[in-house]
Amino acid sequence: MTVRDILKMGDARLLRVAQPVTGFDTDALHLLVTDLLDTMHAANGAGLAAPQIGVDLQVVIFGSNARNPRYPDRPLVPPTVLVNPVIMPLGETMEDDWEGCLSVPGMRGIVPRWARIHYTGFDQYGDPIDRVADGFHARVVQHECDHLWGKLYPMRMADMAQFGFTEVLFPDLADADDD
Ligand code: NI
Repeated sequence: MTVRDILKMGDARLLRVAQPVTGFDTDALHLLVTDLLDTMHAANGAGLAAPQIGVDLQVVIFGSNARNPRYPDRPLVPPTVLVNPVIMPLGETMEDDWEGCLSVPGMRGIVPRWARIHYTGFDQYGDPIDRVADGFHARVVQHECDHLWGKLYPMRMADMAQFGFTEVLFPDLADADDD
């Protein structure tokens, strides 16, 4: 088990456009996925992208089989390893909701996202993933994949008046750090 350090906003490595993965089912890719999973679980995150641990590759993980203590009311999202993703909006509808990020600890903000998306990519073995998602699932995918294009959620916000410290916005949450 290797819990890696999570880079924080201000680190230039979070602003890179990540490189596509060219080899699947390799020891290096499996090790990266294991490190991402260990790091996400240690931080109780809803998702994590390779650039957040300083790895310049198009790999994200998200989802959970269990309720996240920091998102007790959120629907479950299938645990997923997504490599070389492509996201296409379905329809024009955008939705606003709160987001946090392990690279922006202790903060939350309202972020507009596509309400419904079609996304494709591969798992770590090279098997294709092709899904339609909406709501929280669609939001998590958009948030995590944004890390691959060098975008952090504050860069997607429409109203910076809706950005603040978790402990002030949501004093009942047990843990101020979040994603
Ligand atoms: Ni994030």
